[in-house]
Amino acid sequence: MTENTLNNKVALITGSSRGIGRAIALELAQQGADIVVHYLRKTSAAEEVVAAIEAIGQRAVAIKANLAEANKIEALFDEVESTFGRCDIFVGNAASGTPKDIMDVSDKHWDWTMDINARSILRCVQRSVPLMEKEGWGRIINISSPGSTKVLPHYAVIGLSKAVVEAMTRYLAVDLAPKSIIVNAISPGMVNTDAVTAFPVDLQTVIKQTTERTPTRRLVTPEDVARVAAFLCSDAASMVVGQIITIDGGYGLLA
Ligand SMILES: NC(=O)c1ccc[n+]([C@@H]2O[C@H](COP(=O)([O-])OP(=O)(O)OC[C@H]3O[C@@H](n4cnc5c(N)ncnc54)[C@H](OP(=O)(O)O)[C@@H]3O)[C@@H](O)[C@H]2O)c1
Repeated sequence: MTENTLNNKVALITGSSRGIGRAIALELAQQGADIVVHYLRKTSAAEEVVAAIEAIGQRAVAIKANLAEANKIEALFDEVESTFGRCDIFVGNAASGTPKDIMDVSDKHWDWTMDINARSILRCVQRSVPLMEKEGWGRIINISSPGSTKVLPHYAVIGLSKAVVEAMTRYLAVDLAPKSIIVNAISPGMVNTDAVTAFPVDLQTVIKQTTERTPTRRLVTPEDVARVAAFLCSDAASMVVGQIITIDGGYGLLA
């Protein structure tokens, strides 16, 4: 892909203060987009990402919003509109959830995880699409995970929420493609971010086992995901519609 293919575009990446979202924000800025760095708790981390984007030469703003609350999503988009007047790319990346096995999932765990990981994406898309329609161009990328189709330890309610994200991606893709708004999802394998430290496992052992089992013999990095996100935003990918793109170094191919 040539550099600066996203000149004059504005991208909102939820949960871009750290981890995979941060890498996507920096990569889309490298491609010429101005960036909304959305976050919840870590203001200093979000401000660091804004500074890194400004150093690249793009505009960026950090906006705090709890995606569990509908009125906070409304306020987030009000601020995006007043700051940039547009939102051409939406990346539904932020996620939360309590590590639980399926029989231990309570109503509270269900509501919390589904609201943040799945319902917030629909709410954000419903605010993004009118802005994309105005420009006659849009890209929506949702971040899923292998737990949508595989049974992973302590991952039950998060896996369920990711199954919703993948089904929603297909429904949105068919609905929005006639408007030149292209929707896809990315499903990364294990990425060593803060998120994986939340699980009650021996992390170093899991990293070693995952690395050894992966055909490419390394873990997926946030930058691996970010480069594919940038490709999905490019015109070269405009006929890739409603797909769940796996980035796992071949891990999921093995029996
Ligand atoms: N890491 C992996 O192995 C892996 C594998 C497959 C898929 N994924 C998916 O990739 C995405 C990013 O994961 P990650 O590992 O980069 O996560 P991470 O490092 O834990 O970052 C999570 C981000 O989401 C934000 N966030 C969390 N809860 C929020 C809420 N209620 N409202 C608003 N923002 C919220 C956080 O903001 P603060 O910084 O302010 O807290 C942070 O920016 C997620 O969808 C995850 O399911 C990850």
